[in-house]
Amino acid sequence: MARPEGIPPPVSLLAEVTHRCPLQCPYCSNPLALERAAVELDTATWRRVIEEAHALGVLQTHFSGGEPTLRRDLPELVRHACELGQYTNLITAAVLLDQAKLDALVDAGLDHIQISIQDSEPGNADRIGGYKAGHAKKLGVARMVKDTGLPLTINAVMHRQNLDHLDLIIELAVELGAKRLEVAHVQYYGWALVNRSALMPTREQAERSIALVEAARERLKGVLTIDYVVPDYYARYPKPCMGGWARQNLNVTPSGKVLPCHAAEGITALSFDNVKDRALADIWYRGAAFNAFRGTDWMEEPCRSCPRRFTDFGGCRCQAFAMTGRAAATDPACSLSPHHEELVATAVREAAAAPPEFVYRRPGNAARAVEMETLTPVK
Ligand code: SF4
Ligand code: FES
Repeated sequence: MARPEGIPPPVSLLAEVTHRCPLQCPYCSNPLALERAAVELDTATWRRVIEEAHALGVLQTHFSGGEPTLRRDLPELVRHACELGQYTNLITAAVLLDQAKLDALVDAGLDHIQISIQDSEPGNADRIGGYKAGHAKKLGVARMVKDTGLPLTINAVMHRQNLDHLDLIIELAVELGAKRLEVAHVQYYGWALVNRSALMPTREQAERSIALVEAARERLKGVLTIDYVVPDYYARYPKPCMGGWARQNLNVTPSGKVLPCHAAEGITALSFDNVKDRALADIWYRGAAFNAFRGTDWMEEPCRSCPRRFTDFGGCRCQAFAMTGRAAATDPACSLSPHHEELVATAVREAAAAPPEFVYRRPGNAARAVEMETLTPVK
């Protein structure tokens, strides 16, 4: 099948092998309608997906979830990707890992591991993740990873209920021997949108965190690399989400749906092809969801004539849809969007109020979450 002109192949595959997870983080990027174990692709199909991704040009395979270590065939899938020459990364909550499971993954050829933490303070971390004694377990596994020699990245999602501990989280990453720390402010769609009032930091908190990361980057040069996703509600311009829609990454869900972005199912106006029905290359190059916002032709004003359109690609489609009901709208995080002022006012108001209880990410909360999402202001 000929490759259409002007569309480069993807660089990375995010293989969401399961949505099952022992944690219940209230900002989870999985959809509100979580896919159940019964619909997950079997081992043979995942092996085929990895092969098709490799043939398509993918260089890196990221195994994610949910909690990917819940799949017993994970070492087999990692080995298969490694044997094809893929760079393999495991994104895990780590609470289910032990030495034997880790050894099996290292033996399979795993190149890198990312462990999420919820806070530096154990009680608060366990409360946010909704998993008792999880923090201590994560630290134990991180030390095991260090002993294996596998490169370690710590992932920390930041919000109003842990942001004031960012300095301690950076120290913890250094102490654990991580070479990289990914500090990402919550992005508000799906579960995080439902929990926005409970998660939204104040502008002052957000600004302090930016200064703190800049100082730490300087101080820890050569020790720890800090990747930083800024809190875009208070920013002037949006982030170039996903490096641009359908430009670099593709995501396969547990049941085989192929998405241009891990959160794309939140855009209910789109429908997604499945690897069981259509070849991955055909989906990447010709799939309707992939071509919906590829390039810049779909853009409306003010993006259409904006010089930044090749830099930030109009921001985040998922956030635009969640906030305005239209995925082609300019991301309201952009100060040029007609919805920006309303968005900032909402953020300021929510951050000033006492945080409500979390609606934890679990299948039993999905119906309530859908109802709450439709009532979320600025929509
Ligand atoms: Fe980016 Fe569009 Fe805002 Fe320009 S108008 S900065 S392209 S989001
Ligand atoms: Fe989907 Fe930004 S999260 S495009």
